Amino acid sequence: MKAITIEKYGKHVPLNMTEQPMPEIGEQDVLVEIHAASLNPIDFKIKEGKVKLLLNYKFPLILGNDFSGVVVKVGERVSAFKPGDEVYGRPRKTRIGTLAEFIAVHEDDIALKPRNLSFEEAASIPLVGLTTYQAFSDILDLQRGQKILIHAGAGGVGTFAIQMAKLMGAYVATTASEKGYDLVKSLGADLIVNYREENFEDKLADYDAVYDTLGGAALEKSFRVLKPGGQIVSISGMPNARFGKEEKLGWMKTAILSLVSRKLTALEKKTRTKYHFLFMKPSGAQLNILKEWIEEGRIKPIVDKVYSLQEAGQAFQYLESGRAKGKVIVKIK
Ligand SMILES: NC(=O)c1ccc[n+]([C@@H]2O[C@H](COP(=O)([O-])OP(=O)(O)OC[C@H]3O[C@@H](n4cnc5c(N)ncnc54)[C@H](OP(=O)(O)O)[C@@H]3O)[C@@H](O)[C@H]2O)c1
Repeated sequence: MKAITIEKYGKHVPLNMTEQPMPEIGEQDVLVEIHAASLNPIDFKIKEGKVKLLLNYKFPLILGNDFSGVVVKVGERVSAFKPGDEVYGRPRKTRIGTLAEFIAVHEDDIALKPRNLSFEEAASIPLVGLTTYQAFSDILDLQRGQKILIHAGAGGVGTFAIQMAKLMGAYVATTASEKGYDLVKSLGADLIVNYREENFEDKLADYDAVYDTLGGAALEKSFRVLKPGGQIVSISGMPNARFGKEEKLGWMKTAILSLVSRKLTALEKKTRTKYHFLFMKPSGAQLNILKEWIEEGRIKPIVDKVYSLQEAGQAFQYLESGRAKGKVIVKIK
């Protein structure tokens, strides 16, 4: 099968279109013929070797973390899927590789694709949808009427997050540039801060929650907009000791995380708020919930550009520019 692979880590290493062996399936796996994949910043972070301490991949490495496609074969113990099913998913982190014609995935990591979406649209959902579901539902337990600031509302995560926060009945402020203004407005954002001209931390106060997709200075300033008892979920900031304990990373790594996140812990104490770092997990069960919302028309996919597999390099370049409005898709079949 054809796949986009790298031979080693690096910012400038080429993305090669190579011939790879067909994936083999285990007894709880499903073999999927991939129709479309979507790109996420984790893809270029993996390519550059930025997550090699967390994830130990072998070469040649097939890139890609999101997909939609059609089941062609199932393992002996698979009961939920059959050949011909149209599915979507985010494979577990040890088994990535969606920029390829086929992938073997664990049945727990996929769901039937929303019926009203094309394969390209469906591939845009799993990673950003699951991340946001886990932030808003599992961690924040966002309630009707609560106020949330969503950073980078026009991006892949942000465009999903605005819609989900509105669906949960929250009041949504978001940061966007002029180019993203109409898009975030159309998704239901109540208040838009043009981050190139205004400081969000001067405009917003007494928020219940912040969803941080930026990290760094934006994350540190975000503590100022929260009311006491408010919470931040960051997907781009520094993991803290709480994350180390929850993820059972062991005392050594947890101690290191405690050290590197001490500024955030001090801000937490000073503002009497709570900081969470989230590293999303695959979940077919949660994808089923998203499927229902999408089929009811309560959440729609936001696709920016669609590339072919041959154009994967250009797709990476566009995503790395940091200017995408919604999701970047690679059409495979
Ligand atoms: N921990 C996890 O499990 C997890 C899961 C998913 C994503 N993430 C991380 O979340 C981050 C966002 O992902 P993404 O897919 O949304 O990225 P993305 O689609 O590439 O984000 C691009 C968008 O960000 C906007 N933007 C850039 N700088 C901004 C700023 N200072 N303020 C407001 N908006 C800004 C851009 O708008 P303009 O062009 O208008 O500036 C653009 O529309 C990435 O770092 C990714 O790795 C982590």
